[in-house]
Amino acid sequence: MKIGIDKIGFSTSQYVLNMNDLAIARGADPEKYSQGLMLDALSITPITEDIITLGASAANQIITDEDRQKIDLIIFATESSIDQSKAASIYIHRLLNIQPFARSIEMKEACYSATAALDYANLHIGAHPESRVLVIASDIAKYGIHSAGESTQGSGAIAFILKKDPRILTFNNDNLAQTRDIMDFWRPNYSTTPFVNGIYSTKQYLDSLKTTWKEFQNRQGKSITDFDAFCFHIPFPKLALKGLKKVLPKDLDTEHSKKLNEHFQASIAYSRQVGNIYSGSLYLGLLSLLENSNHLKAGDTIALFSYGSGAVSEIFSMTLVEGYQNQLQLNRLDKLNNRQSISVKEYEELFYEEACLDEEGNANFNAYKTGEFALEQIKEHQRIYVNTNEIKN
Ligand code: CAA
Repeated sequence: MKIGIDKIGFSTSQYVLNMNDLAIARGADPEKYSQGLMLDALSITPITEDIITLGASAANQIITDEDRQKIDLIIFATESSIDQSKAASIYIHRLLNIQPFARSIEMKEACYSATAALDYANLHIGAHPESRVLVIASDIAKYGIHSAGESTQGSGAIAFILKKDPRILTFNNDNLAQTRDIMDFWRPNYSTTPFVNGIYSTKQYLDSLKTTWKEFQNRQGKSITDFDAFCFHIPFPKLALKGLKKVLPKDLDTEHSKKLNEHFQASIAYSRQVGNIYSGSLYLGLLSLLENSNHLKAGDTIALFSYGSGAVSEIFSMTLVEGYQNQLQLNRLDKLNNRQSISVKEYEELFYEEACLDEEGNANFNAYKTGEFALEQIKEHQRIYVNTNEIKN
């Protein structure tokens, strides 16, 4: 049975910060960001847009009534959780009106957990072939004003519907994961921003890639020539480019090397405009590859490298299905260009605003632009979400 990704949705915030403006404000050379990190802009969320609203908007783009009846598992991957107990997928279940007899859970392992969610979806559909699974990877990457990581922030969500006989990509069941206990990036419960050993984290990313890739090739009896494209977790595109260089052997023929490099450029087009979306970053790269490459075709096989600090990494591959192009949106870069541009001062106010709860646990918010869903208020410590289309109608 073929199992895989049937549809992919993506949502990000309605506000954007230009990296040139940030560079000037921080006294950095703009080329450090545009060339050194390969970033052009960052998506900035206001307080009324969170992992739930982003995730619901991404999933709402792709869900049909048939999906609502057939989805029996919702997995929400995040490292920007809004609650220590209740799973974010339960909010999604209600906001998207999914049939009641479904399992809803949240998964965490830094930027890696969406990959574990896809693995679980694959196993679930293998055991229950009529099932559909909704996987959402949603995060807000927030390092703090003037921190080293400030230039690699961002926000967004990717949503997948997985099923048998999928219309975009099938799993090849060749996954290889690696775990190593390191402190490269972590966020204790008492902190709203992560602690980061920045340069060390990039070294661990690249070493995890090198060692997992070597073992993957040994176990699968495959090499780079068996893959038409390689997608990487993209905390910022320059690190992913260093990743590509790690997997390209020096004696690779120029045609294949050119193809992989072209596909790499297609895979970073969205991240350059959005920044890091943590758990969804690898998959934003995959979506960007599919929607911006002129040379991919059905039957092509894509290798994927997932990395979550702490650290867990995984390499696996997927193969493109005939007609996959029909499931894509080719105007996504235009949509990104429609976000409202904000100044550095506005970004600092917007991104770092915190809910001011009264004694009963209530908070109201200013009206900000969001996607199709918004956090309307906090009432007695409960987050109240609304569908903004219903408010307008
Ligand atoms: N023109 C062109 N390039 C310039 C330049 C200029 N004027 N000035 C600097 N550069 C280049 C540097 O040479 C460097 O490129 P190379 O690495 O190719 O040499 C690049 O710009 C970055 O400059 P720095 O090395 O000085 O580093 P920085 O101060 O910008 O910090 C960082 C980089 C440590 C990664 C920081 O952004 C950070 O801490 N980010 C958060 C952590 C992170 O993203 N880690 C990634 C691995 S962990 C992970 O993957 C999980 C996750 O998502 C967080």
